[in-house]
This record gives sequence, C-alpha cells and structure tokens, in this order.
Amino acid sequence: MVSSVVGMTTGFSIADRVPVEPNLILAPMAGVTDSPFRRLIKELGGVGLIVTEFVSVEGLTRGNLRTHRLLRFLPEERPISIQIFGYDDERMRQAAEVVEEVGADILDVNCGCPAKKVIKGGGGSNLLKDLPQLEKILKGIRRSISIPMTVKIRSGWNDNLVNCVEVAKLIEDCGGQMIAVHGRTKEQGYKGSSDWNRIAEVKQAVSIPVVGSGDVVTPEGALARLDETGVDGVMIGRGAIANPFIFREAQALQRRETVPVPSLDEKYRVILRYYELIRDDLPDKAIPGKLKQLCNYFTKGLPGGADFRQSLLRSQSIPELLERVESYFTDERVVEAAAVAGSASAVEALSEQEWACDTYCAADEPA
Ligand SMILES: Cc1cc2nc3c(=O)[nH]c(=O)nc-3n(C[C@H](O)[C@H](O)[C@H](O)COP(=O)(O)O)c2cc1C
Repeated sequence: MVSSVVGMTTGFSIADRVPVEPNLILAPMAGVTDSPFRRLIKELGGVGLIVTEFVSVEGLTRGNLRTHRLLRFLPEERPISIQIFGYDDERMRQAAEVVEEVGADILDVNCGCPAKKVIKGGGGSNLLKDLPQLEKILKGIRRSISIPMTVKIRSGWNDNLVNCVEVAKLIEDCGGQMIAVHGRTKEQGYKGSSDWNRIAEVKQAVSIPVVGSGDVVTPEGALARLDETGVDGVMIGRGAIANPFIFREAQALQRRETVPVPSLDEKYRVILRYYELIRDDLPDKAIPGKLKQLCNYFTKGLPGGADFRQSLLRSQSIPELLERVESYFTDERVVEAAAVAGSASAVEALSEQEWACDTYCAADEPA
C-alpha cells in the first residue's frame, strides 16, 4: 500500500502489515528516544513510526534488568519498532524473539552505530564489513519471528567501502522488509553531510521500502528529500530534538495546509508536559538533566537564552528549575522575540558541537 498527494508518497506499509502514515519517522536515538520522549512526539502529531533507542542483545539475553527496561512502551506509541544491536547470531535471534514477545510491531537491526565499544563487540556498523555474519544474523532472525524485520545501515564503512547498495540487496535477500539508510559512512561519524544520492541508489536497487536519514532539520527539507530521491519515508533525529513539532509541520506541508508555527507558550507547555512524562517514568535524579536538555534546544537563538541556560545549570532542585523555566517562558521580551524568530531558528542556531551525537558516537554498550 502506498498513499500519495499529487505524486509525492505520503505513506507506505511494511510487509503489508504495519502502515507508516505519514511517512515521517522518529529516528532511533540512544539516550533520547525513551518512552517519555516518544510519547511527547506522538502527542505533538505528524509522526508515522517511532523507533526505540538501541538495545544490547548481550544485556537482553543475559537478563540485565536495565536493558529489559528499554523494551517498555505504551499502546499509544504504536506503531513502534524496537532496535537491537549485537554480533552473535544466536543471541540476536533470541533477542528478536523477546522483542516479538513484548509486542513490538517491528524488529530493527542496528548496522550503523559507529561507537568504538559497539564495533569492538562486532555489532553496529562493523556488520557492514562482515556480510557473511550479517547474512547469518538476518536469516536466523527471519526464521524465528513473524513480525517484520527491518535494518538500519550507514552508506558504508569508509570512502573505500561505500557498499550500501550491496548490503541493501543482501538485506532484501535475507527477508528484510524495510531498510533505513543514514547517508554517512562509519568513518565520517557526523562530519560532512548525509549523501542522499547514495540513499536514492539504494531505493533504486531494492523493492522493499527504503527510508532516508540524515540532516533533515526543517519540514521543507523533509519534503524535498522525499521528492528528490523517491524514498518511501524520511527519518528525523536531531531535528526532532531541536524542534519536536517538525513532524506535524512536515505533515501540514504534505497536506498543503498552513504550517502551524508553535508559539513560545506552546513550547512552554511542551516542556511542562515533558516534565510530567519523565516524572512518572524516571528516578528523580535523572529528571534535571533531561529537562535541561530540552530547554537548551528550545531556547537557542532566543534573547536571554544563554543566561537562562546558565541559570538552569545552577538550579539545585526540580522546583527551582521549573520556576526558572516559568519566569523565562513568560517574560514579555522573550515572548515578542520568539514570535518573530519562528521554530526553525532553534535548529539554525545549533552548532555541530552542540548536537547530542557525540554521546552516541562514544556510546558505551548500555549496561
Ligand atoms: C544522540 C543520538 C543517538 C543515536 N542513537 C542511535 C541508535 O540508537 N540507533 C541508530 O540506529 N541510530 C542512532 N542515531 C543515529 C540517528 O538515528 C540518525 O540516523 C542520525 O542522527 C542522522 O539523522 P539526523 O541528522 O536526523 O540526526 C543516533 C543519533 C543521535 C544524535
């Protein structure tokens, strides 16, 4: 099934079983796309599929409770894809069965993580240069589960091994039912830009759905990538941290509707809602860090934003933090300036160093 508006695809289905409507997908992000963040994104609207943080098969199959916690999700998060990473084909297979048992709609295999520790264990983007093992893993999983199996890859290992087309064909042959491609090589990390020509080549080479990933930070950008490359969907990662409204904005554009620009008040309410969601889900000590992270991104490019962020760093307690948030977001000067700046300003104001991706690149295997 494929839906479209005047020639442009607006939805697709994975294995005729999981509709992705609209074709705007929240990218998996370790340390970010936990259940509260995913629910926040769903509530804001415009997202067709969400993917969890990556989950270690070593942790899962050795009964690590913290790893098992990563599998929790609520019905309102559906359709939901749970991503696993690892190397050992038997453990990958067992972990995939657990993912099916907890009721996920999709099982996704990580073949893109560039973190040293993950690669040392043989998983993540290491599998892009160990195709016999990748084949073994995928065939084993395919035989063991009945939910769709999808794979997320990078364009290749390095400039000398850009093999996403070859890998994509292998994935399709092994029964993979969707491929997501981040158009950077492992060695690139987050340098340079995502090469959407490579992503388009993958789309041409296979008949299963292909989703593109990398550097989509505006709703216009999302539609342009869909249009130029013919991919079935786009994944949005960092752009959704900076602007969680990006999905509903892109969906409005797809529908030729006026793009609703969030007011400062709406951003304030989103922060409060996020607070409610994490308060019910996380231990107290984890809350300030998460709140500060969202506030940081929301106030980039706004007057007094730097001072405000500094003041958050000095906050000693959650009530104090919430008080500072309230006084900043209701300050008339900020309200006026925010109305002029619009939502894309946060994304533009973020320099490369400020993105959370360094954490992912250096990620330790979750305990
Ligand atoms: C903080 C962070 C954590 C990430 N964690 C994962 C992950 O767990 N699994 C994965 O496949 N990709 C992960 N990624 C990669 C993203 O899914 C995405 O492919 C990449 O960031 C490029 O897209 P973007 O420019 O929209 O962020 C992560 C990226 C970031 C920034």
